[in-house]
Amino acid sequence: MPTLNDIRSTYLDYFRRQGHEVVASSPLVPRNDPTLMFANSGMVQFKNLFTGVEQRDYTRATTAQKCVRAGGKHNDLDNVGYTNRHHTFFEMMGNFSFGDYFKDQAIPFAWEVVTKELGIDPARLLVTVFHTDDEAADLWKKVAGLPDDRIIRIPTNDNFWQMGPTGPCGPCTEIFYDHGDHIWGGPPGSPEEDGDRFVEIWNLVFMQFEQFEDGSRIELPKKSIDTGMGIERVAALLQGTNDNYATDLMRALIEASANATSSDPDGPGRTHHRVIADHLRSTSFLIADGVMPSNEGRGYVLRRIMRRAMRHAHLLGAQDPLMHRLVPELVRQMGGAYPELQQAQAMIAETLKTEETRFRQTLERGLRLLDEELTHLPDDAELPGETAFKLYDTYGFPLDLTQDALREKQRTVDTKGFDAAMSAQKAMARAAWAGSGETKDATIWFDLAEAHGATDFLGYDTETAEGQILALVRDGAEIDAAVPGETVQIVLNQTPFYAESGGQVGDTGWIVSEDGKARVTDTRKAAGVFIHVAEVTEGKIAKGIGAMLEVDHDRRSAIRANHSATHLLNEALRERLGSHVAQRGSLNAADRLRFDFSHNAALTAEDLEAISAEVNAFIRQNAPVETRVMSPDDARAIGAQALFGEKYGDEVRVVSMGRAPSGKGADGQTWSLELCGGTHVKRTGDIGLFVLLGDSASSSGVRRIEALTGEDARRHLAEQSRHLAEIAAAMKAPQADAVERVRSLVEERKALQAEVAQLRRDLAMAGGGKSGAGPETREINGVPFLAQVLHGVTGKDLRSLIDEHKSRMGSGAVLLIADGDGKAAVAAGVTEDMLARVSAIELVKAAVAELGGVGGGGRPDMAQGGGKDIANASAAIKAAEAVIGG
Ligand code: ALA
Repeated sequence: MPTLNDIRSTYLDYFRRQGHEVVASSPLVPRNDPTLMFANSGMVQFKNLFTGVEQRDYTRATTAQKCVRAGGKHNDLDNVGYTNRHHTFFEMMGNFSFGDYFKDQAIPFAWEVVTKELGIDPARLLVTVFHTDDEAADLWKKVAGLPDDRIIRIPTNDNFWQMGPTGPCGPCTEIFYDHGDHIWGGPPGSPEEDGDRFVEIWNLVFMQFEQFEDGSRIELPKKSIDTGMGIERVAALLQGTNDNYATDLMRALIEASANATSSDPDGPGRTHHRVIADHLRSTSFLIADGVMPSNEGRGYVLRRIMRRAMRHAHLLGAQDPLMHRLVPELVRQMGGAYPELQQAQAMIAETLKTEETRFRQTLERGLRLLDEELTHLPDDAELPGETAFKLYDTYGFPLDLTQDALREKQRTVDTKGFDAAMSAQKAMARAAWAGSGETKDATIWFDLAEAHGATDFLGYDTETAEGQILALVRDGAEIDAAVPGETVQIVLNQTPFYAESGGQVGDTGWIVSEDGKARVTDTRKAAGVFIHVAEVTEGKIAKGIGAMLEVDHDRRSAIRANHSATHLLNEALRERLGSHVAQRGSLNAADRLRFDFSHNAALTAEDLEAISAEVNAFIRQNAPVETRVMSPDDARAIGAQALFGEKYGDEVRVVSMGRAPSGKGADGQTWSLELCGGTHVKRTGDIGLFVLLGDSASSSGVRRIEALTGEDARRHLAEQSRHLAEIAAAMKAPQADAVERVRSLVEERKALQAEVAQLRRDLAMAGGGKSGAGPETREINGVPFLAQVLHGVTGKDLRSLIDEHKSRMGSGAVLLIADGDGKAAVAAGVTEDMLARVSAIELVKAAVAELGGVGGGGRPDMAQGGGKDIANASAAIKAAEAVIGG
């Protein structure tokens, strides 16, 4: 009996032998389709190959694709556990031709796989074709020898496959398996077709058209093939059952659930085990693909699935969180085919455990409330929407979980009332926000958030994705389109662009639609809406269309490196300076990082060196950087650093990096553990290099460090060593001696300066050299007075010259004017015995006035001042003489 893993290999091997490229499953979150919540069929990743927008170096491919149908157009969540074939997660096997082969080869391939490779009895098979597709019907007759009554023509959309409202589409043919008349049901197209007897196992789509939003349809440039085979159904029939949950893989998960809860897999808890087995797969694969539980978008779908499973675990009587204990069995079953499951195993287990621990805290109280409400209601009454909303709002019960709980009691919820209560709450939030003093033009973002929901951020996992342009805003108002030269704010349903927050700058890049191109110069966010500030550069950017979004990769990589380095720096500072160090602000830009932290003193050179060495040691450790999502309380409990005074929502991301030396680290293992919504490197080694530029005071008690990483750090070091080389060359010394040589040069220069000053003074005293009029003492009003203009002497030399003149004269007044500083410096001195007659201050003031200056001051025996106009020196001397003359 082939296992599910055998079937997968058989399928892929067969098509490999037929010249098909075996392509890995795409992630569950589609990168190339903004309208899809999750990959829901194998062709999603090839969408643009069918339409001819994209080319690859193969024209035939085969895949086993992970699919989730829970939310959006295909939502199977409500039925899981209660039927044999509904899953939130399943695998779709497929073979694809991109303008290579068409019907006449696709049908023989399929027939050979089904009857020869998988060995299914041809007598049990029948097919459907689109009612007008004679070609397909003829091929089935020819290739499979099927009689007419087993080639059923279907006139409905069941045999015309469309990916969604737009995109590639075409007629299809489906292969059905007849499980036998012991099971109720009729062939496709019959009134009993919904029974379980005839099961569709494979759909072959003849991709022929592209459907547009306005309803028009064009022929594809090349006819193509897209097929999808649900592996679980095929496994069921090959294993002799019509119940997907009885297949080897699902059974192993069900038994794991039964073992972990010490219950009978087929007893009264049968449905619970089935729900748990299915939801374990979807939640684990979603987490492995980067989806984290949240209250919005994809994260909320994940949460709904998780909580639904957790309620069923609770119903099984599990006393402790159950889901995470089943992860090893899932990895055993599927980790070989999907290595991402193995890689993310620890994260999956932890995310499940955290969510279940938290949810269990309110689950019982919520269920009690629900029971109480029901006892007050008439038997056939719906549960009031208000109550369902209370369960949602207070106890974290997603609406479908409440519905699931009521289903067992054959009851329903007043969903209209639920929606009304939800709207009322939003209106209250809005009113509170409107009164909070935020700028008025921000109302538009609130309106957009209400109309379209928050923007789904994909940028933790990807830098390119498609998005749907929901709105264009200019000057606070919505517009329909923008043309080259215009700057607009673009809102999309999802985006890989990071919006400025938590110190990390917003991303830049490109938004490209079929009609035009815009350069994104910044990304911000308000009310959960990501605002792409963009300048249209080509064509036209219009509301309502899809667009390719591409983040500037190099810039984002540099920002990432800086942000991760900031975390390592934060930890290194705490290690070196003490645990009082707390982040007070940060900037993570592309070209640098800045980190403000509480600390009272300047850092010493040794501190800076030790910190820098530590950060670089963790970079070289090249440990993986991991992100988990948990409640703020749990994050604090494991010792994660949070920003003081910051408000956190229900969910926080915890970023951890570096293996701590033994006995260190917040949790004894991890070096850095921080609450952070930013984007980070995959491994610390990606930071490359860290160079600390220096430390300065930012405000009282707060220091600021600036640093560089990666290429910027390298360039900085290269520049510094070039400077050193230039200095050494100028000094004509080896680099190693350059510092010593510069130091002695400075010393020498100081000595020479002192010598020059002394020589100038000597020269001035001697009255010769470059000085102007020689010093002559005249007596004015009985006061011996000496005045002199000194060229090339600086202001600061004047004081000692005055002293020297005073001591030589013994008695009198002296006035010196010097031009050595490029302006006029004045100094006057009066000997002790003459102080009663004249004040040096008065002399200086009088001289300064003539020299075009103001003020001047000092003591009566020694005063100094300055002016601009050395040409007026004689007038200045005269003015001083006049002061003495009285
Ligand atoms: N894309 C086709 C399907 O999902 C094969 O059924």
